[in-house]
Amino acid sequence: MPSSPPVYLDNHATPCVDPQVLEAMLPYFTEVYGNAASKNHVYGRDASRAVEDARADIAKAIGAKHQEIVFTSGATEAINLAIKGVAQATPENKRHFISVVTEHKAVLDCFQWLEENGCETTLLPVDTDGLIDLEELNGAVRDDTALVSVMAANNEIGVLQPIEEIGKICREIECYFMTDATQALGKIPLDVDKMNIDLLTCSGHKLYGPKGVGALYVRRSNPHVKATCQINGGGHERGFRSGTLNVPSIVGFARAVKLACSGMKKDQTRIQKMRDTLQRALLEAIPDAKVNGYLEQRLAGNLNISCQGVESEALIIRLKDTVAFSSGSACTTASIQPSHVLEALGRTEDEIYSSVRFGFGRFNTQKEIEQLAPEITEAVMELQAFAF
Ligand SMILES: Cc1ncc(COP(=O)(O)O)c(C=O)c1O
Repeated sequence: MPSSPPVYLDNHATPCVDPQVLEAMLPYFTEVYGNAASKNHVYGRDASRAVEDARADIAKAIGAKHQEIVFTSGATEAINLAIKGVAQATPENKRHFISVVTEHKAVLDCFQWLEENGCETTLLPVDTDGLIDLEELNGAVRDDTALVSVMAANNEIGVLQPIEEIGKICREIECYFMTDATQALGKIPLDVDKMNIDLLTCSGHKLYGPKGVGALYVRRSNPHVKATCQINGGGHERGFRSGTLNVPSIVGFARAVKLACSGMKKDQTRIQKMRDTLQRALLEAIPDAKVNGYLEQRLAGNLNISCQGVESEALIIRLKDTVAFSSGSACTTASIQPSHVLEALGRTEDEIYSSVRFGFGRFNTQKEIEQLAPEITEAVMELQAFAF
């Protein structure tokens, strides 16, 4: 008898495409296949209409105007466009940029680029829960600060930063506020006006949409954000990003956003119940297990936990036929570095190397988690007995 595949608990890396998203995309491969920039025939006009509808849907989900959404190939490109684009467009007396040590590498690498290109940067620390201190941010902003970039939800520990309060501080000192909402969109409410967000980045594949599509929100008034295009060649997307638009993926992205936002409360409540089931089981069975990240303000589907003496890689291999999950973030796993996020929280080397991330999603079921929980705790206890 064929064995069933392992349960998928790596939904922060990427979840599967929702069948409703796939269904929405399919006609745009073989029926409405025109180039959205070819406005002189019906094929192009239909494709263009689909893109504009998608733009409006995504804008609506974050309280933006449709003209403020720029489609990109994903969040990494959107982040590059936002940070490098602002740096190249701001005046000489605005060359200071602020972010946080626990950001995704896409932001941190762009901050490295800023340093190499004549800008000054400040990376704020976080406390042992992964939160920034607003007083510290208040002390770091200066007259020459161009932009503050703080992620809405962390991809490793799921911690939610106080975005609304950060937006208030940025508005007071008149610098741009950017948030990387790649893990947050569709999981927590976001409103660019209420939160004073000037730039926001997001990605299709983190919310049951296709990979290779994302968006940047760029505020057009109060203030009008200026950012220089990073990909030249034709002036698409109001000059922000050239290149033929990926119509099927844009349609799928918008459908994914609509689904996630309309079903947010129900989905997240169900997901949190599953997360809490495994968390409870692990904390009850393993006395020295430690959850990483602020317990009160966290993505519903995130459980990042360290079990002393149990190498995360050993646990992943031990459970490979049962459950698929990860150690730290996908990008840091590829480069086999200790998680910079857990380091920033002040975790010990043992805690970092014994940390695993379970990411729960829409297609997991309470029943499968209830079956899994004892199997995972047993594997941890076995490996711990071996270690000590
Ligand atoms: C918080 C965060 N920002 C940015 C990215 C990059 O997104 P993309 O895969 O769309 O380039 C990711 C994906 O891992 C992420 O989790």
